[in-house]
Amino acid sequence: MKVTTSGFLETGNIMVIPVFEGCNKAPNNATTNLNRSASIAVKSAFASDSFTGKLGESLSVWTKECQIILLGVGEKNDLTTKKSRDTGAKCFASLSKNHGTKIVIRYTTGWNVKNMAAFAEGMILRDYSFDKYQKKEDDKKGPWSLMCQTIERHQDALNSAVNRAYEIATGVHLARDLGNEPANKLYPEEFGKRALEWSKDKQNVEVEVWNYARLKEEGMYGLIEVGKGSIHKPCMVFFRLNPSANKDSEVPCIVGKGITFDSGGISIKGSAGMDEMKLDMHGSATVFGLFQALHATGYEGRINGITCMAENMPSAEAYRPGDVINTYSGKTIEVLNTDAEGRNVLADGLWKASELKPSYIIDLATLTGSIVVALGHEATGLFSNNKALSGKIQIAGDEVDEISWPMPLLPAFEKQMTSSKIADVRNQGKGRWGGASQAAGFLKQFVQEREDKEGKKSQIPWAHLDIAGTAGIWGGETNVTVGHGATGVQVRALHYLITQK
Ligand code: BES
Ligand code: ZN
Ligand code: ZN
Repeated sequence: MKVTTSGFLETGNIMVIPVFEGCNKAPNNATTNLNRSASIAVKSAFASDSFTGKLGESLSVWTKECQIILLGVGEKNDLTTKKSRDTGAKCFASLSKNHGTKIVIRYTTGWNVKNMAAFAEGMILRDYSFDKYQKKEDDKKGPWSLMCQTIERHQDALNSAVNRAYEIATGVHLARDLGNEPANKLYPEEFGKRALEWSKDKQNVEVEVWNYARLKEEGMYGLIEVGKGSIHKPCMVFFRLNPSANKDSEVPCIVGKGITFDSGGISIKGSAGMDEMKLDMHGSATVFGLFQALHATGYEGRINGITCMAENMPSAEAYRPGDVINTYSGKTIEVLNTDAEGRNVLADGLWKASELKPSYIIDLATLTGSIVVALGHEATGLFSNNKALSGKIQIAGDEVDEISWPMPLLPAFEKQMTSSKIADVRNQGKGRWGGASQAAGFLKQFVQEREDKEGKKSQIPWAHLDIAGTAGIWGGETNVTVGHGATGVQVRALHYLITQK
């Protein structure tokens, strides 16, 4: 989608006029450059009882030149960026290219730049479909274009805000693409290949892939054991943005669970909904998408990413319940359930991240069904050993409407996970209660401590985002910026977190 900003010039094929409640006459500029009859039709529509500007209300006026949509966004003082974004996304989803592909949004009286940008952002985010495996009708209509019209005073600020939203959306859409890819097309090595490909023409980006042989050399058996049952062997992918910037300072490291398919392994899952487990690599997709978003917006700081890629399959070579894993950290894991595989691969990822002298570590993982029971599809579960970090993640999530909800990291859960009779940690708790907290208690064992200047030891600031409920839309209605499938969740929130000082 091409996005531009201008004054009230052309009318496009589809003109959207979002307005506040109680607007009973056409606002200034709404009818600029419309011909006389179109202008009269729009004015009559505003004056009629059929349109009051209530949130979600919409009225189409058909003229020879274009479809004009009056769109209610509710009370002016109640308008939030979330409402703007969602209204933009829903409006976009209702459009048809039959009327042409040029969309014009006319922001008239009372709109501020933040809300204007959010409305356009909703459209940009929603302009996504995963149809590469479908036979297409010869689509001669081409891509959409979006022209945001406002008064001159706002044009520069709006232009940079929408362009930034567009750049960030390239990362969101990349994450969705990766999440939506079926597991026979996107397996660990293929993810690595795509990351290398992506980095090729980018000066300030480095991608490194540790293949199966390298993982063995390094002793990364958390990742190896999970992935060895598949013909598609596991790998670890390193993302480095601006590797030569801030050389001596600590920088964030973002870690992603990348199970390209989670069958459960020997502890095999039931068949209902198993297809959704192609999305079990959304943590890694978010990391990749985040790096794209940071690169596209010209972020100049250094940042590291690690994705732990494996396919969890049952086979003669698969790991079993009862096995003991020697992880990269030196700690051992007793496997009680091969379906609790995400934590095993993250054990190696988190330990490796700890070695990169991070200012903080954030991991993203579709880790537990239990978090979906707790939070549904409304929020990502947030576990952290650091109040300042978790506070910032919450603020970032609220700002862009990718909510992270704090969950407890209680010592009792850690105790449960470290009470194996034969190994250092066990990969399943003692019962099903608090499953998401058990998983977090497990992960915490693999975040290293370090010394501060006074020689005091404490664990590296770390946050774990359980995105099992927010990574995909399978008929749900919570996230209206997506029609179906992978959401690209947390790309925008983490981009905000990292780029806002
Ligand atoms: N990938 C699943 C978690 C999941 C569930 C993601 C639903 C998305 C939607 C994870 O690997 C898993 O199977 N977890 C188990 C852990 C249990 C065996 C301790 C779970 O949550 O049931
Ligand atoms: Zn699993
Ligand atoms: Zn899984």
